This record gives sequence, structure tokens and C-alpha cells, in this order.
Amino acid sequence: MLITFEGIDGSGKSTQARRLADALRQRGETVRPVREPGGVETAERIRALLLDPALAIADRAELLLFSAARAQLVDEVVRPAIAAGEVVLADRFYDSTTAYQGGGRGLADEAWLDRFHEWVTGGLVPDRTYLVDVPLAVAASRREGQAADRMEASGDAFYTRVRMAYLALAARHPERIVVLDGTLDPDTLAARILADVRALAPADDPTP
Ligand code: TYD
Repeated sequence: MLITFEGIDGSGKSTQARRLADALRQRGETVRPVREPGGVETAERIRALLLDPALAIADRAELLLFSAARAQLVDEVVRPAIAAGEVVLADRFYDSTTAYQGGGRGLADEAWLDRFHEWVTGGLVPDRTYLVDVPLAVAASRREGQAADRMEASGDAFYTRVRMAYLALAARHPERIVVLDGTLDPDTLAARILADVRALAPADDPTP
């Protein structure tokens, strides 16, 4: 099974991904957490390029580099782990590219991106995606004190487009993408996510 977490930087999605990993492990599942871009050596090196504030990266190159990192991660880790019956928890997946490069950078239309992601991942679609949605100001205040990476230096107008693109994506895929209010307290959010995952995979629960 593949579960992905999405949201703008500072949304709290990584915290929720970690909490779900812990909860599923307690339930006896074998969990494979991955992050994007990165997760394997080749993709981590691509990540370093992508986030380096000293580099100017053309928008099309940016889209291809994020996707290259994803293709590597899918082949090296995600597919083998799913085949082995593990629960792969991905902190970001191809919806990030649709939101950040498609929406934020204004690259390509959704139909083209859908086909491109299908090619990059070999047709892999998450079983569930949690979109942790927060207003920009909340996300920005949570990022305070951390040095901005190259993406985070893109400005408010960019992040507004990313957020809107995420919400549009969720509206297009209501069967897969669950939108969560990221301003709720982390315990409440974690409980909602776990309940949803339980409903998604009831067969994994020990029957009384
Ligand atoms: P992330 O690992 O969530 O950032 P951090 O470690 O700072 O929490 O993501 C790295 C950045 O890359 C983030 O700004 C989102 C961006 N990104 C894209 O623009 N497109 C993509 O396809 C992916 C996966 C990430």
C-alpha cells in the first residue's frame, strides 16, 4: 500500500507522516517511510541540487529533476516495498509536482502532467493522499527561524498558487485525496488520519 502526505512547506505534513508511521508500526505493520525529493542516494543528491539557494534552476529543469528523483525512488524502494507487502508512507509524491511546478511555476496543464506522472512512476497511484491544508500565514510562522531553501525563497504569490493548485487537485480526485485542516491540533489530526487508514485497510486489523 502507498499512502502519501502533501501540503505547502510548514503545513505539518511531515509530523503527521511520522505519527502515522509510529501508529501503524504499533499495529504490527511493516512501514517504509520515504521523503521526496530523496529517500535513496541518487535522489538525495538530486535533492541537494534542487534545494540549493545558490543555484538558478530553469522551471522545466526543476520539473524534470523532481521527477527524476521520483523515478529513482519508485524503482529502488517504492515498488519493491509494496511488492513485499509493506506500507509505504511518502512525505510528498507526484501531487507536489502538479502543485509546485504545475500551479506554482505555471508549467504545463493538468492533463499533460497526469500523463507525465504516469510515465515517471510506471502508473503507480497512491491508495490514499492526505493534503494538510493551512493558510499561508500559518505555514510561514511555522517555518520561522529556519533558513529558507531555494523553493521556500519563491515568495507568497508562488505559495498561494501552490495551495490553490493542491485544493483544485483534491477537488478533481475526491476518492483519493483527503483534505485536512492543518490548523487543528496535531493529536486530532493524527487520530483522524489513523481512523481513515483503518477504514481503508480493515483487513489488516486483527479480528476479535
Ligand atoms: P520538503 O522535503 O517537504 O521540504 P522540507 O524538508 O524543507 O520540509 O520538500 C522540499 C521542497 O521541494 C518543498 O519546497 C516542496 C518542493 N517540491 C516541489 O516543488 N516539487 C516536487 O515534486 C516535490 C516532491 C517537492
